[in-house]
Amino acid sequence: MAKLNRISTLRTFVLLALLQTSSLFVDAAEVNPSALQACPGYKATNVKARRDGLTADLVLAGKACNVFGEDIQNLRLNVDYETADRIHLKITDASSDRYEVPESVFPRPNNKRPVSSTNANIRFDYTASPFSFTIRRAKTSEVLFSTVGNPIIFEPQYLRVKTTLPKNPNIYGLGEHTHPFHLPTNGTTLTLWSRDSYGVPVGTNLYGNHPVYFEHRTTGTHGVFLLNSNGMDIKLTEDGKNAGLEYNAIGGVLDFYFLAGSQTDPTQLAKQYAQVVGTPAEMPYWSFGFHQCRFGYKDYLDVASVISRYAEAKIPLETMWTDIDYMDRRRSFSLDPNYFPIDRMQEIVRYLHEHDQKYIVMTDPAVAYVTEGYEAYTKGTELDIWLKDPRGDGKNASLGLVWAGVSVFPDWFHPNIEEYWNGMFQDFYSPEKGLDIDGVWIDMNEPASFCNAPCENPFEQAIEQDLPPPRANPPPAPNVPLFGNANTKLTKREVDVINPPYAINNAAGSLSNKTAHTDIVHANGLTEYDTHNLYGTMMSTATYDAMLSRRPDVRPFIITRSTFAGAGAKVGKWLGDNLSTWDLYRNSIAGMLGFASVYQVPMVGSDICGFGGNTTEYLCARWSMLGAFNPFMRNHNGDTSISQEFYLWPTVAEASRNAINIRYQLLDYIYTAFHQASIDGTPVLHPLWFKYPKDTKTFPIDLQFFYGDSILVSPVTAENSTTVSIYVPNDLFYDFQTLSPVQGKGSFVKLTNVGPTEIPLHIKSSVVLPLRQKPAMTTAELRKTDFELIVAPDARGRATGDLYIDDGDSLVQKATTSVKFAFSNGRLDVSGKFGYNAGVKVARVRFLNVNSAPLVVTYNGKAVKKGDYSYDSKKKVLDVTVAAELTKGFSVQYK
Ligand code: GLC
Repeated sequence: MAKLNRISTLRTFVLLALLQTSSLFVDAAEVNPSALQACPGYKATNVKARRDGLTADLVLAGKACNVFGEDIQNLRLNVDYETADRIHLKITDASSDRYEVPESVFPRPNNKRPVSSTNANIRFDYTASPFSFTIRRAKTSEVLFSTVGNPIIFEPQYLRVKTTLPKNPNIYGLGEHTHPFHLPTNGTTLTLWSRDSYGVPVGTNLYGNHPVYFEHRTTGTHGVFLLNSNGMDIKLTEDGKNAGLEYNAIGGVLDFYFLAGSQTDPTQLAKQYAQVVGTPAEMPYWSFGFHQCRFGYKDYLDVASVISRYAEAKIPLETMWTDIDYMDRRRSFSLDPNYFPIDRMQEIVRYLHEHDQKYIVMTDPAVAYVTEGYEAYTKGTELDIWLKDPRGDGKNASLGLVWAGVSVFPDWFHPNIEEYWNGMFQDFYSPEKGLDIDGVWIDMNEPASFCNAPCENPFEQAIEQDLPPPRANPPPAPNVPLFGNANTKLTKREVDVINPPYAINNAAGSLSNKTAHTDIVHANGLTEYDTHNLYGTMMSTATYDAMLSRRPDVRPFIITRSTFAGAGAKVGKWLGDNLSTWDLYRNSIAGMLGFASVYQVPMVGSDICGFGGNTTEYLCARWSMLGAFNPFMRNHNGDTSISQEFYLWPTVAEASRNAINIRYQLLDYIYTAFHQASIDGTPVLHPLWFKYPKDTKTFPIDLQFFYGDSILVSPVTAENSTTVSIYVPNDLFYDFQTLSPVQGKGSFVKLTNVGPTEIPLHIKSSVVLPLRQKPAMTTAELRKTDFELIVAPDARGRATGDLYIDDGDSLVQKATTSVKFAFSNGRLDVSGKFGYNAGVKVARVRFLNVNSAPLVVTYNGKAVKKGDYSYDSKKKVLDVTVAAELTKGFSVQYK
């Protein structure tokens, strides 16, 4: 959170600074678009076509237009049909080195299976002069991407590519942003430049950068990924006839991956994108439990009391978190000796672990500039790993201003960084001597700084901004019982990396405002200007490795704020500093869908009940239930907001208990979905159009979604309302609570009397759902409860399902169980590989939509006793009690 939000005098100062700095820019809006159209573009020569691709030289086709620098004369084009569904198109400067996203940060896909251009599902066509290219769907020749009529501009600090699109296109992605999931296309600019963005304002650049979009049409879905980490504005335009999508990047190269997607199943596109950026990491089983956090727990007693109160309120608390409050003067890798003393903190962690609960604390990248007696700083200085200030002799650390006051930032490109970061983790988070954390929360990794560029007189600014603030309250008295009650290479061209000629629409103003300066040169020679958008992802990878260095066999659980494409292969992400508003409650769904359905970062969630401002009982109740269907479920709150732990209001306590119970019933279902995602990128959350791609009414919907493949979540979204209009596609569903069939007609249905402790959920037919049978206070306890199977057949009486079980925690699993469920003609077959013994049974099978009482029910071919099954003719549910060990297959049949 930017401190400035709270200090009005300072805000004025910043506004002045912004006004001053903005005058340094050429305002992109001032450049006449027709001037851009008049640029000469390039001419393709020396074209060499291969079976599976093509190379060519591109030569400037006329008089340079030099809009934001000098047009580069000679470019090189490479086109590769990397797979049947993927064309890799790259345009680089033929005569000079330019920055490209380093392989070390973004490994290029190693899954190429080149095909001949005639066998691919998409096709690259070009016109030589002026050079333009078109990507078509091979089968139908439908144009998916085309630069015809829009000359490519390629200058040292400005790249422009524009494609025309059909009118009213359905575009998703290009985040991180708080626009609707279905992007407004008339004049929207999406700016990619990592930024600490308190309140996540709509239309501004936020923390993460994912230059990928999915475009959906009734004829199919395809995707475009531009691998470029430089700042950029992506503009969505409409001119009456056509729509357009225009990239304006301030560096790097044009490195496009065009993905064929599919004509029938949009999730194929998600999988194809995963083949480029990597499939998501598997997360520990416990991480799907409920997490509680806040900024502003004042001391260890506060933390202990929250743990106890959750237990008293019988709301399952899986993981307790502590924000920067635990730190000594807000210094990373330190504990406040009076408010959060080590012995008390260890007592808390011990208590949690003894109760099968977990503990996570904040780790910020910025390290306080404290030259004596502070190991995090002295060790970093010895290893020389700080980002350096290019001013002066280039040897001094670059200073910024973060929570602890004047701070320095690790250089993730430094050869000693691993030694530093692993060492800090091994010492400070030592299970024996330090804080034995179970996961990591990494934040402020844009990197954020409270200083505008140039960050002058940071020491004075720290005093003005009261950083770090003194503790307001006395330290806790000693001896209070804690738990009494409860159980590449640099471009050689001249560039201005501080004020580039094309000014992207960075909401912070100058590129270096509120972050590390863009003229910083990393240890490997790359500039912050080029690599800024990678900082959070690089910290994520370093933290992943550091956790493994501490416990080599355990799956790391890491939640980050800033991400770049591919981050999901290591970490999860929360949506940053939202506000306790109904708008941001609603918008959190679009935010999640972006990460879980498009960007391949499925472990995602918003700050439940809202971070900034004060929540209300009703909002928090609704959000606790929607939150139970965030893959990452955490209640988190700002330091100046009223408390919002779920137990504080009876309604919220009940709502959250209900919803967490359902979440836990479904935990293995979503865990199975994550396992599948880790194999092939199958999305974990689905917008409705993923499932109903021909139904145009689903395209704009982002207030409902599928949790996993089959649970339709339709929360109440209006304040003080118990009514919600939900879209029910033309398909057979079942009410999750009553299990009664609901035939959708492809229309909106008004649900009334949805009480503040209820959330409408429907099962999409054609699935067999494995549910845990009994509620539990922890996921460890949950793992000991038996399963029941819900057989929810489609209109033809068929259903299938999967269940994946492993030990939940090991990086490499010794044994796993993968169960397949298949139901048709009244018979359920359970088969699979039963390597991991979960030690639990399938205790009951519930067949839905059974039209009449069965004459006979069999289990493995033998008749089941009358008392062991029952039929509810009103709900049409047949329940069969079984006691099937999950060590081998079985079958249940009714006639
Ligand atoms: C940032 C984080 C927020 C955290 C705060 C204090 O604003 O986004 O979650 O509580 O810093 O560490």
